[in-house]
Amino acid sequence: MRRMRVRAGSRGGYEILLGAGALDALGEVARGALHKRARKIVVVSDARVFPLYGARACGSLRAAGYDVAHCLAGGGERGKTLRTAERLLDFFAARGLERTDAVVALGGGVVGDVAGFAAAVHLRGVPVVQVPTTLLAQVDSSVGGKTGVNSRAGKNVIGAFHQPAAVIADTTTLGTLPRRELTAGWCEAIKQGAVGDRKLFERTRDFLGANDAGGGRRDDALADLIARQCAFKARVVAADERESVDRAGALSRRVLNFGHTVGHALDGMIAAAEISKRLGTLAASELESLRRAVALAGRLPPAGDLDADEILRAAAADKKSTGGELQWVLLEEIGRASIVGGRDIAPRVLRAGVRAALKFVG
Ligand SMILES: NC(=O)c1ccc[n+]([C@@H]2O[C@H](COP(=O)([O-])OP(=O)(O)OC[C@H]3O[C@@H](n4cnc5c(N)ncnc54)[C@H](O)[C@@H]3O)[C@@H](O)[C@H]2O)c1
Repeated sequence: MRRMRVRAGSRGGYEILLGAGALDALGEVARGALHKRARKIVVVSDARVFPLYGARACGSLRAAGYDVAHCLAGGGERGKTLRTAERLLDFFAARGLERTDAVVALGGGVVGDVAGFAAAVHLRGVPVVQVPTTLLAQVDSSVGGKTGVNSRAGKNVIGAFHQPAAVIADTTTLGTLPRRELTAGWCEAIKQGAVGDRKLFERTRDFLGANDAGGGRRDDALADLIARQCAFKARVVAADERESVDRAGALSRRVLNFGHTVGHALDGMIAAAEISKRLGTLAASELESLRRAVALAGRLPPAGDLDADEILRAAAADKKSTGGELQWVLLEEIGRASIVGGRDIAPRVLRAGVRAALKFVG
């Protein structure tokens, strides 16, 4: 079992407990991280995860003396809405959840984001313990305190920074994760290395090259890699807790948006790298190295029917702009990103980059 500390939020930061079987330590970790007067806990999960891991999570919390209830926030990405948050808030109120009590988010990034958001606003903030069960949530979303929901205005437009009281990542839960969800997590892992830590990128690529990423083999190597990914995210968060618009260096949270301007999938990362190459900031060999790593992450959802201009229009309407200008996270090399204002990039370069990425995805 690995323990790490994230230096963000109040009370000197919070602990990440990571490894096989971490879920069974949930009650004990909660006892250490929550207020000593905490009595009630609401476990928020979804209809797929709760039947798999709910009993263990609730059992561990009850054994630690908590009064536990659960509430399901289903519907996946489409259910990550204010309406779901409101339903959770009604449930918290009906349970009489007080300021010193807590919420446990048991699931992937969707559950973590919506439960974290509801926790951030219930009584102006009750603690949340994040228990990520997807690879993406373990390497990325559970650490850092970004919570939120989608709305008509866009993805994650409504939200709050609410650092967790603790993060418990049980790597054995990844054994039941569908293949495409693993691919999404590996994308995020490759991205984190690509924008900020070349060694992490190489380790991730080598792990993917040497393993069947979904086979559950070499569990310790997997836990070690996830721990390194978490440590990277924790470093970035500690340096730039609230994603300052003025920061642009290696430890800026904004560089984690690499690939998000075009889409929230792998093709976005490739598009940003293709644009970087066309602008002359990224060597062709570096682009090739990224393409090879991404190919190891698994099969990408087909993008053949998408149109480059449509994608760029959608990107322009997204929220990643500052002072009215869309911001592009580009690569200078693997491990080093830079942020470039959209007005400084010729439209034909953007279009060619996105087209090349769509061709890559197929
Ligand atoms: N807060 C942040 O910093 C941050 C960062 C990145 C992404 N996100 C958000 O994360 C969300 C995506 O999260 P995700 O990729 O984890 O998707 P998800 O939460 O939708 O989970 C994917 C699917 O896997 C299922 N699942 C989860 N764990 C499982 C397990 N162990 N076994 C079997 N099935 C399991 C879920 O029920 C769901 O159907 C997006 O909404 C994104 O905006 C947030």
